[in-house]
Parts: sequence; C-alpha cells; structure tokens
Amino acid sequence: MQTTLPTAPRSPDADGFEKKARQIGEWALAFQDPLIVHHLDCDGLTSAALAKKAFQLKGKNAPTLMLKKLDDASAKSIPPDKELVFTDLGAGQLELVEGMSNPKKVVIDHHPPSKDSDIERINCHDFEFDGAVDACSASTAWYCFRHTGLSAQLGIVGAVGDMQDQNGFQGLNQRMFQEAVNQGQVLHTNDLKLFGKVTRSLVSFLTYCTEPVLPGLTGDDKACAVFLKNEGVPTYRDGKTLSYYGLNVFERKKLASALIQYAYAQGVEEKLIRQMVGDVYVFPFEPEGSERKEAYEFSTLLNACGRHDAPQIGIGACLGQDGALQQAQDLLKKHRLAVRQGIEFAKKNAVDAGAFYLIDGRGTISDTIIGVVCGAYFSSGLVQRTKPVIGLSVDEQGALKASGRGSKDLCTQGLDLGEAMKKAAEDVQGFGGGHAVAAGASLDATPENVKTFLKKIKQVVEVQLQLR
Ligand code: C5P
Ligand code: C5P
Repeated sequence: MQTTLPTAPRSPDADGFEKKARQIGEWALAFQDPLIVHHLDCDGLTSAALAKKAFQLKGKNAPTLMLKKLDDASAKSIPPDKELVFTDLGAGQLELVEGMSNPKKVVIDHHPPSKDSDIERINCHDFEFDGAVDACSASTAWYCFRHTGLSAQLGIVGAVGDMQDQNGFQGLNQRMFQEAVNQGQVLHTNDLKLFGKVTRSLVSFLTYCTEPVLPGLTGDDKACAVFLKNEGVPTYRDGKTLSYYGLNVFERKKLASALIQYAYAQGVEEKLIRQMVGDVYVFPFEPEGSERKEAYEFSTLLNACGRHDAPQIGIGACLGQDGALQQAQDLLKKHRLAVRQGIEFAKKNAVDAGAFYLIDGRGTISDTIIGVVCGAYFSSGLVQRTKPVIGLSVDEQGALKASGRGSKDLCTQGLDLGEAMKKAAEDVQGFGGGHAVAAGASLDATPENVKTFLKKIKQVVEVQLQLR
C-alpha cells in the first residue's frame, strides 16, 4: 500500500472530484444485484450506510458485507456473481480488486491508491487531496450519492470517527460540512470535547474521562461526585440524573472552566488541556439524549458496533432502524469496557522502546481494539506525546496484528506510520499501511518475525523523527 503523500505543492481539484463522484455514484446505482463491501470502523459503517440508503431510495436492496481487511483470504468470502461497491476498502488493494471476477466493481475510498488502475473508483488522492484530513470514505460516499437527496449527517459522523476534524474540517469535508450548515442539518459549537456529553450521567462523564486523564478524578466516581458538588454543578434535577447537555448554558460553562482550572492545577500538559475544548457537532433533528445527537458520540457508538463484529446493528443505527440504537448501546458498553481494560493493561505493561511506546497486548487485547487502545493511551496524558504508540495483538487466524497511532504534530515533524508499517511488514512478508497518523500491519506471528518487524519500525521512525 502506497503511503507517501505528494511532495510537490498540491493543487486540489474539488470541482473535478465532485463531478467524478457523481458519475461514480450514478453508475453504481444502476447495479442490479449490488453488494456493499465495507471496513469495520465508523467510517466504514457510515460510508456503507450512505450507499445502502442511496440504493434504498432507488428502490433497491443492497446487502452489506463487513471485512476487517481486504486480502486474499477475506476476498474469498465475497460472492463472485455480485456487483461490488467497496467503501473504505479497496484503494490500497487495487491489484486484488482487479483480479476479482465479479461483473462490476467500484471503489469508494480515501486510502492512498496502491497503483494506477482501470477499476472504476473515486478517491480524493486522485484530485490532490489528502485522504487523512480532506475526505474520509463517508464524505466521499456522500459526494457520490448526494444527488439522491441524502443528508450529510453520516458524512460528518464518518469524518469525526476518522478524526479528520482537527481544528475544524478542511478540503472536501469542509465543503460538505458547509452545505450541511447552510441547510440547518448540523450545529457547530465550541464546547468540551470529552466523550459522554449526551448519554452519560455527569459523574460517569468525569469518571471515564481519559482524554486527558485528570489525576484525582479519572477512575474515581466518589471524587468526581465531590468535585461536582464543590463546584455547585447539579447532578440531579426533577428526580432525573443529569447529563452534560442536561445542564443549562451557565452551568455548562461553569463546569467546563472548573475542569480546565483543575487540569492546570494538576499539572496536565497544556496542549492536552487546550484540546479538551474544541469544535463539537450537534444534529438538531435528532432527539435529545440519543447518541445520534452528537457526531463524536455517534461515531464512538458505530466504532463499537464494527469493532465488536456487529456491523448490521451499526448500519441499522445509521439508517434509524427500530431497536438498532438500543442494541448498539449495549455494544458500546462492551466496547468502552474493553478499551478501559486495554488502557489499564497499557498503564501497567507499556514499555518505552526508544523510538516508540510499545503495548504488547498479545493474548489480552483483541485485534479490533488494539488501535483504539493505542490512540487512547497516546492521548491519555500518561505518556509524553513525543513519540508514537505501537500496539501488538493476535487476530483470529493467529497472525500478528500491529497498530500504530501518533499525532498530527508528530506527522508535521516527519512521522509517517503508514510508511513505517508498510516497510516493516514487507521485511517479514506481511502487509501494512494506512495513514501517517494511524496505521496497521499484519504478519506471521513467529518470534523472529515480530523482532525483525519491531526493529524495522524503530529504524524507520528514528529516521522520520530524526532521532539519531
Ligand atoms: O481505515 P481507516 O483509514 O478509516 O482508519 C483510520 C483509523 O485511524 C480510524 O479508526 C481512526 O479513528 C484512527 N485515527 C486515529 N487518530 C487520528 C486519525 C485516525 O486514531 N488522528
Ligand atoms: O487497524 P487499525 O485501526 O490500527 O488501522 C489503522 C489504519 O491502518 C487504517 O486506515 C487501516 O485501513 C490501515 N491498515 C492497513 N493495513 C493493515 C492494517 C491497517 O492499511 N494491514
């Protein structure tokens, strides 16, 4: 998978992209027997849901198939007679897609294309945009199918899920977002970014805050209850437990500034404190108290569905199917527990491997969660954000699954985890890739392989970050 971004100044062509996206969308919607093949995370689910909805609007049923990754083995599970719509998969594996005998194939993706190809596709990289920040698969799918009248809500959720809203949106995401704002589909506020503003009680909201970890509060519900009381923030009203959004504006502001002051007093890194507040996206047409109300909470809910092997529930929740949201909430509980346990494990077991922190989660952390744990650990405030976090896990087939997470800042300094994963995996006949800021790899799990792989990651990251 190619990960190197163009070094020449980019001149992105938004109009060209929009035109091609519409052509691709119209072409795909003429399929008679479609199958949507999608990736497992929030962006994979939202892009698949957008495609499914577009087919529905044309009176066609388009079943969906989730793949954790597209490789020779998983490709065998794709029925050869279907017309395929790939979302959030395929761009990095165009050789494989070319080899499939299916009558028609289209790839809607934002990963860097692995090669030139005649496969019908839409990819922001072909129009000089950066797929890590300018467009995700969901926004790409929205551009393909917007002519059917689809709202951009799921596009926004997908972009937030892929963490593309770093200080606001940019590129094609921004164009989509602006249109949603103009149509009153989304409200944009500056608020606390912490998870759980819609659905958590205030005590849980603080107790489970890991981005950043608030010493003395995170993990201690009693201390959180005392803190709220001391700050004069009510936790109950009219016999009901209050969430953050249940507070009035004055109370919210009071809590937000108390938390920020607390974080400063506890010596939390200033940069992490500044990141506690930022752009928050709220959908006015969604009911109060529902995860669907806020892009970040909805994206977390969908990640939970995909990463716990329940994509149908996630897609159902995207499409507003009866009961799906409630089932998704149960999965979210499971997901957050798994992530919390992963962070606890990392706290005790992560090692400083020089060029990166290593979480060896083999046998403890599942392959679908390891990337999320790496990201949460990186942003937890428990480690300095001067080097990336690499995590190891084992997948169902017994192969090693590695994930890496860094920050935009580190990428500006030269970090490219996609390149590191690709090179290191290739050294051991595995395959890897992804974005500069978030990437992964799969390889045979022999001890020599793992050693060689980690050594290579170290070498590449050292060169990228000029550590030697
Ligand atoms: O396959 P895909 O490119 O959509 O996956 C990107 C993954 O990387 C997502 O799960 C997203 O949450 C994660 N990510 C991250 N930090 C970033 C950007 C993306 O953890 N800054
Ligand atoms: O699996 P994880 O969430 O860590 O993946 C992060 C990013 O790396 C995703 O964009 C994913 O598509 C990419 N990846 C890849 N090749 C792999 C594993 C992950 O390109 N073998």
